Amino acid sequence: MDAEFISVPKIRLINGVSVPQVGFGTFQIPEESTAEAVGQALRLGYRHIDTAAAYDNEAEVGRAIHESGLDRSDIFVATKLRNLDQGTDSVLDAFDASRRALGLEVIDLYLIHWPVPCHDRYVETWQAMSGLLDSGAVRAIGVCNFLPEHLERLVAETGVVPAVDQVEVHPAFSQPDVREAARLRGIAVEAYSPLGRGGDLANPVVTSIAQSHGVTPAQVVLRWHVQSGRIVIPKSVHPDRMRQNLEVTGFELSAYDLSAIDALDNVSGRIGGDPEIFDFSQSREDITARNETRQ
Ligand SMILES: NC(=O)c1ccc[n+]([C@@H]2O[C@H](COP(=O)([O-])OP(=O)(O)OC[C@H]3O[C@@H](n4cnc5c(N)ncnc54)[C@H](OP(=O)(O)O)[C@@H]3O)[C@@H](O)[C@H]2O)c1
Repeated sequence: MDAEFISVPKIRLINGVSVPQVGFGTFQIPEESTAEAVGQALRLGYRHIDTAAAYDNEAEVGRAIHESGLDRSDIFVATKLRNLDQGTDSVLDAFDASRRALGLEVIDLYLIHWPVPCHDRYVETWQAMSGLLDSGAVRAIGVCNFLPEHLERLVAETGVVPAVDQVEVHPAFSQPDVREAARLRGIAVEAYSPLGRGGDLANPVVTSIAQSHGVTPAQVVLRWHVQSGRIVIPKSVHPDRMRQNLEVTGFELSAYDLSAIDALDNVSGRIGGDPEIFDFSQSREDITARNETRQ
């Protein structure tokens, strides 16, 4: 299918800004391949790119965007504040650094990466981000990994509702309580690790639904997200997978299919950090040390 003909639906955020519902994730793409992968994604028709200061790839993402020749207004770009940059005094400098690295004047969505409740700085951070929104430097602001209690406190103490909560959601860990807390406040849910980093694709419920629709397991999982109203940002470095992850609109899952996948939710299915206790600084040194431990 030609990129021109892949029609990706849009989600309207609480402040009226529209986001392509299927975006492209860039976490853990090696730095030297990021510009190529993002360029490929843009050629295939992705118009929403998700990065973060902590991914250390904003410059490569920005380069791919500039080299694509696409109109800036046709691409939705989201980035995130590093945990160590939370706090009234550091948000503006961190934002400027991201903006310079990306080579963009205006960021479409700026997100708090983690609540880090043990440092108790997310409320003042949010106030500083609200200032960025008022100044027009960002089109929308949101959070990641916020649990219902964090959302409640943020809104109660600032009166500013996040446009998005980007959280881990995939069949084996779908966080219905977080999704409901977001829904009640009009916050769009953006699923990260939407494929469970590939781990949910061999589940027999998923593979049998895929077989019945003549599509791949990844397309079933992404279609389940899309029909449930979530934004998704799958990551792949393979053009054939990038393409199939974008082609999730040509078929419809039944209510039975959707509830069979909903039923796979399992409290032990989490693959990322637990927001209640995750206090990783996301400094370059810490990220390098963490990656070395994993190898
Ligand atoms: N806010 C946060 O705290 C946070 C945390 C984690 C992630 N994120 C964001 O969410 C994005 C996506 O999450 P993720 O990268 O953790 O996981 P994911 O998108 O669920 O899965 C990526 C993995 O699945 C494989 N894959 C992709 N498409 C596939 C397909 N069609 N068939 C089979 N395998 C496929 C990829 O391999 P190949 O690359 O080899 O194809 C990769 O190993 C990230 O890139 C990042 O932008 C945000």
